[in-house]
Amino acid sequence: MDSAPADTAHPSAQAPLSPADRLIVALDLPSATAAFDLVDELQGLCRWFKVGMELYYAAGNSVVHHLRDRGFEVFLDLKLHDIPNTVAGAVRSVSCTGASMLTLHASGGEKMMRAAAQAASRPEFPRLLAVSVLTSMSADDLAATGVPDPPEAQVLRLAKLAQQAGISGLVCSPQEVAAVRQLLGPAALLVIPGVRPASAAGSDDQARVATAAEAIACGASMLVVGRPITQAPDPAKAAAALLAEIASA
Ligand code: C5P
Repeated sequence: MDSAPADTAHPSAQAPLSPADRLIVALDLPSATAAFDLVDELQGLCRWFKVGMELYYAAGNSVVHHLRDRGFEVFLDLKLHDIPNTVAGAVRSVSCTGASMLTLHASGGEKMMRAAAQAASRPEFPRLLAVSVLTSMSADDLAATGVPDPPEAQVLRLAKLAQQAGISGLVCSPQEVAAVRQLLGPAALLVIPGVRPASAAGSDDQARVATAAEAIACGASMLVVGRPITQAPDPAKAAAALLAEIASA
């Protein structure tokens, strides 16, 4: 993907080395208090936290500032999707938060992604990641939106579009990560949700899932894990098990 100087200067652009550099815990929680309680439990184990729509709409930029002040890296998963001018403005509006990564939907199109990439061109701005096909969507769900191709074909199409627009990272499911890695090469930052332990009873609302070890073996750069940690009886134990699985992969 693109190799703008901004990316090479960014912490998330370095080759992730330790398991803690490869695990992002999704703080899908309704309040800053609930989020910080969980962060306290995971302190010393986890380095990256994802602030998504639920927490951001409830608590705003202050959550991101708090996590940054405590030395954590923040993945701001706002999945921007609007006309190019509006998305570029949104990118500028959140650029001051100190988040390391920010998402937008690749299905917003090349012009939208290009406008976002231009708005995020300063080194201190978050690195942009294009979300391809949501991991909750099956082939049937995708077909119902008017895309008859299998998810992998659509993910690869959107990955190419993102690359052309100058977006330097991609979010896809573990089931497409090998094909995307082959398409985009070793330097691409591939961030993978839809991770479920082999022992999980179900996959919640996720459709295209795999284990952490499988995702890493297929070429994932970083994994995003929410409920397997946040809803576990012992979140720290669940996180430690995932970190061990990443290390062994
Ligand atoms: O709880 P779970 O591990 O399923 O959470 C996955 C996280 O990854 C959620 O916060 C979700 O918003 C995010 N995500 C996803 N699929 C995408 C992009 C992001 O599940 N394609």
